[in-house]
Amino acid sequence: MKCKQNLFLFILFFFSLTLCAQEKQKRIEINTRKLSMIFTVDNSNRIIYQYFGKKIEAPNSTFFNRGFVGQPDSQEDLAPLMYPSYGGRYYLNPALKLTHDDGVLTTDLIYAGSDSKIIDSNRKETIIKLKDRLYPIYLDVCFISYLKEDVITQSVKITSQERKTLKVENIASSYLPVHAESYYLTHFNGTWAHEMQQEEEKLKHGIKVIESKKGVRTAQAQSPSFLLSLNHMSQEDYGEVYGGTLAWTGNFNLSFEVDESDRLNIVTGMNPFASTFSLSKGESIKTPEMIWTYSDKGRGQISRNLHDWGRQYGLAGGDKLRPIILNSWEGAYHNFDEKIITDMIDDAANFGVEMFVLDDGWFGNKYPRNSDAAGLGDWQTNTKKLPRGLPYLAEYAIKKGLKFGLWIEPEMVNPDSELAKKHPEWIVQSGKREILPMRNQWALDLSNPKVQDFVYETFDQVVSQSPYITYIKWDANRHLDNVGSTYLAKDKQSHFWYEYVNGLYKVYERIRAKYPNIEIQLCSSGGGRLDYGAMKYHNEVWASDNTNALDRIFIQYGTNLFFPAMATASHVSTSPNHQTGMMLPLKFRFDVAMSGRLGMELQPKDILGEEYNVAKKSIEDYKLIRPIVQFGDLYRLVSPYNGTDWASQMYVAKDKKESVLFAYSLNYHGRTTFFETRLKGLNPEKNYKIIELNKKSGKSSFPNEGEVFTGDYLLKIGIRLNITDAFASSVLLISEL
Ligand code: GLA
Repeated sequence: MKCKQNLFLFILFFFSLTLCAQEKQKRIEINTRKLSMIFTVDNSNRIIYQYFGKKIEAPNSTFFNRGFVGQPDSQEDLAPLMYPSYGGRYYLNPALKLTHDDGVLTTDLIYAGSDSKIIDSNRKETIIKLKDRLYPIYLDVCFISYLKEDVITQSVKITSQERKTLKVENIASSYLPVHAESYYLTHFNGTWAHEMQQEEEKLKHGIKVIESKKGVRTAQAQSPSFLLSLNHMSQEDYGEVYGGTLAWTGNFNLSFEVDESDRLNIVTGMNPFASTFSLSKGESIKTPEMIWTYSDKGRGQISRNLHDWGRQYGLAGGDKLRPIILNSWEGAYHNFDEKIITDMIDDAANFGVEMFVLDDGWFGNKYPRNSDAAGLGDWQTNTKKLPRGLPYLAEYAIKKGLKFGLWIEPEMVNPDSELAKKHPEWIVQSGKREILPMRNQWALDLSNPKVQDFVYETFDQVVSQSPYITYIKWDANRHLDNVGSTYLAKDKQSHFWYEYVNGLYKVYERIRAKYPNIEIQLCSSGGGRLDYGAMKYHNEVWASDNTNALDRIFIQYGTNLFFPAMATASHVSTSPNHQTGMMLPLKFRFDVAMSGRLGMELQPKDILGEEYNVAKKSIEDYKLIRPIVQFGDLYRLVSPYNGTDWASQMYVAKDKKESVLFAYSLNYHGRTTFFETRLKGLNPEKNYKIIELNKKSGKSSFPNEGEVFTGDYLLKIGIRLNITDAFASSVLLISEL
């Protein structure tokens, strides 16, 4: 009897313990309108990564630990942690790797509290604090949730209170565990004039790494932006997709590891390559932000979330319409004088262009910038080419009704320049090794505060010459190799990669504090820099030096998966194209450029006869559709990658009253083939009238032009266009009645 009683008491005790443990299970939730990210604290004070995905409307009072099931390891041991460090039983690619001051290689992080604060009605910050179980190491894992845009960003700050030096060998921005039947990664590769080329692959067991070690132009060959689709290849309008993009303008590393339990472990952050960071007592280091979003309705929604977020938080002046620009580069290169430029401004004004940008070639006297071989670093106006200086040109443009902008490349220097002779110690160099040129130039060492001052002052001096210089194209035309710094101490050389980017950001901060309204274009040989870390200080990006409209369809498709059209500078250039030699109709070139921030990059005098009217009319039409393209929602209809040789997309105004559709034929399709597509994003209950803009020889490619359709019809049945010839195209304006 006694024995039974004891058993009963034991069972009661056991259940109350479990209940107690369940009640006590600490849960941290980060929510947006449609997403939840959930962590719990387990009995040994570790933070378990429970979930990130579609919003959990009614969470359980307890969560189980989603670990590896089976022997010899226990499920508990291998549950995914919020921020896994190397140590304990963790055997996968960790987010954190430290060497402590006594030589110990492992770290064991436990929960040390959390804080949250409402930033405003749309944003909440949640900081989860971690500390090592034995060592005085403290981490703040910081999340900012953006309610309306369904975006969550994550960054990490580590502080050491160890007596001697703590070595931080790897500190990622985020870790995400996902469990599904299969995983499909969409990532982007490229090279100069061929950036943001999409590739999608099924992830197998082992690690797939996407990374850059180039320091500058880090997004040229690989991109820090990706999509991860669950269970099938990513689709436009259905299926679960994660979108991730690292806001870092330096080396990055994204690792995707499918482990032995078929779980996918994603670690994203700065590249730890040759970057061990030494922290003294009381010092901290902060990672860049990893930007996450998720959709259970395909990749289309991922883009729309990021575009909304980007316009509001991710780029400068995201609430202002972008002007139509004529850039001098492909029209004049380095070969111009004042007359050539003022003539270009006159012609631009006649076309209805709103800003003139003087590209490379305007500076350098002792070493004139007449080619890319000399002058970089000497930011004084070349008095031979432009005797009356920049203020004269800027004022000239203003009088003609155009704004004025300029090209600079302040991080770089030609060996043939006054600057290189004066400050050889400012150049990135590895001890006594040869300093390798790239495009005839060296890079300045932005880890050095004196170089930061120089870069800031270059910008400041250039723009303060005239109140009419209101736009800067900021270029950076090489990557970093053979790196090292004469400024950093011997034992801090591995801080170089980090300090270069931080130096760059410090300069941008100073510039933006003084010049919040100057428009700045992010350019790095076109598309070499494409990340939200840099975008934050810029209004737009030059997505590629390749201005060939056909190639631009692919490059802009990749770019616009993550970055909005308003920030994608897209210029009409001459035919045959200077990069590819390809000849394309002017209408096609305009119709492609109009799907981003329209500009021209050619000698306007070369546009003659009927082409003159096409150009003028296109510019006029763009002004009509500009608010829809720049502020609207992007709906992709046909991907250029799907092998049909068509491409099409729509922009729909937020109130769904107006939308614009672009359709392109990328090849000849045969006489009996038509382009057919259903429309997206419209209101099924409204009526819409469709007219074609910029018609070819006044003839519409849409046989039902001018007719009225119900939204329901357009969404379910769609339209048919006669654009079967190679490089035929169509732009339709769809307006609610
Ligand atoms: C880079 C840019 C171009 C142009 C040239 C000038 O290549 O990407 O657009 O500005 O530099 O040298």
